[in-house]
Amino acid sequence: MAKTSLSFVPNQKVNPKTWKEWDAFPTDSILEFHRQLPEYSITPLHSLNALSKKLGVNRIWVKDESHRFGLKSYKALGGSFAIARFLQQRYDLEDLHFEQLHATNFPDSEEIVFATMTDGNHGLGVAYIVSKLGYESQIYVPKEMVSARIEAIEKVGGTVTIFEGGYDDAARQIAKDAEEYGWKVISDTAWENYTQIPEWIIAGYSTIFEEVKEQLAWDVPTHIFIQAGVGSLASSLIQYFRTVYESDGIKIIITEPDCANCFYHSAQINDGKAHNYPGKVDTMMAGLACAEPNPIAWPVIRDGTDFMLSCSDKISALGMRSYYHPEKSDPIIISGEAGAVTFGALIEMCRNPNYSAIKEKLELNSKSKILLVNTEGATDPVNFEKVIQSG
Ligand SMILES: Cc1ncc(COP(=O)(O)O)c(C=O)c1O
Repeated sequence: MAKTSLSFVPNQKVNPKTWKEWDAFPTDSILEFHRQLPEYSITPLHSLNALSKKLGVNRIWVKDESHRFGLKSYKALGGSFAIARFLQQRYDLEDLHFEQLHATNFPDSEEIVFATMTDGNHGLGVAYIVSKLGYESQIYVPKEMVSARIEAIEKVGGTVTIFEGGYDDAARQIAKDAEEYGWKVISDTAWENYTQIPEWIIAGYSTIFEEVKEQLAWDVPTHIFIQAGVGSLASSLIQYFRTVYESDGIKIIITEPDCANCFYHSAQINDGKAHNYPGKVDTMMAGLACAEPNPIAWPVIRDGTDFMLSCSDKISALGMRSYYHPEKSDPIIISGEAGAVTFGALIEMCRNPNYSAIKEKLELNSKSKILLVNTEGATDPVNFEKVIQSG
């Protein structure tokens, strides 16, 4: 039986001197753009007061992205901003008005087909926004992807192609196919000579943190745990908090599955370079099942992260159940495999004496104000039920 296990490595390359050189995102205009989307509403920031008391910490805040645009994850924030910026450049538009980007406004719009590979959430976000704007999308998915995630993409109008191989192979294949068929690739990871779209995607995610800033009214977290697959979300968070909050007192902790932990592995090698996860990628946290770091996210993660955590699937399952069965007056939160791992890790570190050394290193104590992001809801309802019932 798989073990409940958790390990961490301090990131020795963290380098606050570089933070001042980073560009701040134009967050006002990005949020302004997202506010124009038909299903936009600010997502909740929950305060888990009863659990904070039980675990002996000051605060636990959870930014809950499980209802963003009715799509069960935050992902469309990135894809929508990148697609909008691409269309803005192509048609030389002065401002970003959502309605103005619609295909019916441009005589040559039939030539544009957007394409991406996905482990589920990113492809859904792209297909959703592309359909809203009246264009076509081609979405490559791995053959192991559960049918609920495929159906969700088809339901919003994406054309799905099932692909043999993992996320990283799909990225290579789609780059080739896009060249052959003239598609515009909207990838959340970069490669040689392909960086602009992923940069816009990373910038698009900043809306989450801009909302958090408003919701916290500038109260400053001491710890932020953030999940990483290719690292685009984490780099957005790091760039945001290290530029907007003039505080180096925030500890940022990247959290990954132990069978896809490329950032943890890179911090272990500690030569300043990004390294692929060398083993077989095998985790129920589908959104985090990436062996290769996004090369443009890496420098930000390397310079801006304090610790890397590596967690077994059981930690994620613990998080899913604990969100679903909250402490006393705390709210029920629906969280899927990739969404819940940071919560499971926090609970396990605080309650299991085997991890007291990690807890001490992270300085998790009665003064700690912890921010988590629930990045997805029950995107795989069958596994969600199984995990919830198994507790
Ligand atoms: C639910 C969820 N959480 C977290 C992530 C991690 O994001 P990134 O791949 O940018 O590190 C993903 C990626 O798809 C995801 O789907």
